[in-house]
Amino acid sequence: MLGNAVYPYFRTWYNQVLATDKDVNEEWLEKLDVRDEAALQQVFTNFRPDVVLHLAAETDLEFCETHPDISTAVNDVATERIARLCAKHGSTMVYISTAGVFDGNKSGFYTEDDHPCPLMVYGDTKCAGEQHTKRLCPRSFVVRAGWMMGGGRRKEKKFIYKILQQIKDGSKEIFAVSDKWGTPTYTYDFAMNLFLLLATGRYGTYHMVCEGMGTRFDVAREILHVCERSDINLTPVNSDFFAKEYFAPRPFSEMMTNKNLFELGINCMRPWQDALRDYIENHFADYIRGGKAPSSPFRRHDHHTSSVPYDNERRQGQRNSYTATVEYNSVCGTRTSGTKRQACSKAIAINFSNSGVCLYMFEPPSKGTCLELTLHNNVGTPETKNATILWTQKEQNGLYKAGLMFQQ
Ligand SMILES: NC(=O)c1ccc[n+]([C@@H]2O[C@H](COP(=O)([O-])OP(=O)(O)OC[C@H]3O[C@@H](n4cnc5c(N)ncnc54)[C@H](OP(=O)(O)O)[C@@H]3O)[C@@H](O)[C@H]2O)c1
Repeated sequence: MLGNAVYPYFRTWYNQVLATDKDVNEEWLEKLDVRDEAALQQVFTNFRPDVVLHLAAETDLEFCETHPDISTAVNDVATERIARLCAKHGSTMVYISTAGVFDGNKSGFYTEDDHPCPLMVYGDTKCAGEQHTKRLCPRSFVVRAGWMMGGGRRKEKKFIYKILQQIKDGSKEIFAVSDKWGTPTYTYDFAMNLFLLLATGRYGTYHMVCEGMGTRFDVAREILHVCERSDINLTPVNSDFFAKEYFAPRPFSEMMTNKNLFELGINCMRPWQDALRDYIENHFADYIRGGKAPSSPFRRHDHHTSSVPYDNERRQGQRNSYTATVEYNSVCGTRTSGTKRQACSKAIAINFSNSGVCLYMFEPPSKGTCLELTLHNNVGTPETKNATILWTQKEQNGLYKAGLMFQQ
């Protein structure tokens, strides 16, 4: 799921990307089972990666409970080897972890300051992976995601898919759990925010989840709302209802907040409801009554009105944000041709409105310059607009922020 969002995104930023999986189901994938130590070593020697995004994991909680040996081999032991190889080859390592490392007893949102205490085999083995990464690889990021949504038609396999499938199958009643809390995470936003984080070089542990929280019931209700299916009954149930199928222990709360991203000034994760709407409109438009055109990155996103029970003031600044990759070139000049990396001609767009956009740029921008912007959000068709830089600001995280007004 995440690999599908990360690959096209990183391919536009890096000259060479080697994407691997144990199941080669895309033409852009090459085979690598991370349990194969010799094959891992060979990849490092041959490819000599600057950055390693370690996404491979056994992610099915029930499978992990019944196959702790495989879960340990993939999530724990392979991660230890990858961390050692990253350290040896001087690669930056990014390890994707999960809210499932917490025991769920905290009443508020988990931050990076809270101590992991996993309840189940998946969480336990992912937690071990985190520890290896931090201990062995000095240039590393541990980035925890929440309930993942993404992957699109072919790769989505978690909760969103299961609800959409029931809609497609004509169910008149859908049951969803309302006694466990978490924070959905949109893979496409995650991929872009991850790139911003990488650009800062501020290694450490980060939470990277959408804004807000909810139960599976809340997510299902939002899916029905987006799909305009008020004719389907949604019934809240306790976890016991699905205990036979989903027998792995799950924390009462997996709610997280992105404290460390906020502190770096680069939290671009949207409210999960906005991200979910985007996801459905762009990937599952035919599930919506009457169909819907995909959202444009230039379209204004409405303020999300549901109240977040804490930290509201700091979050205000993040409202209406919408991350997208931007390629730009000066209107009078020529496109900067990149050599190894092309970051000089790329930026991340946040906080759109009808009249302008705010960009994170990787090279100092000049006030008054006219740019031709091409926006890619990894879904939908890229759009091009001309804009003028009105203000610029150097950020403490080493990036540059610029406010641009669209030319009419
Ligand atoms: N899904 C979530 O809700 C969630 C939440 C928080 C964090 N995460 C983390 O996010 C990362 C990406 O997960 P995802 O959500 O994108 O789920 P995913 O689609 O299941 O991705 C995991 C990938 O790893 C592959 N894999 C499993 N064993 C492997 C092995 N031995 N060698 C090589 N590849 C192997 C899987 O292949 P197969 O499909 O063929 O098994 C799959 O393609 C993982 O580290 C996961 O722990 C996921």
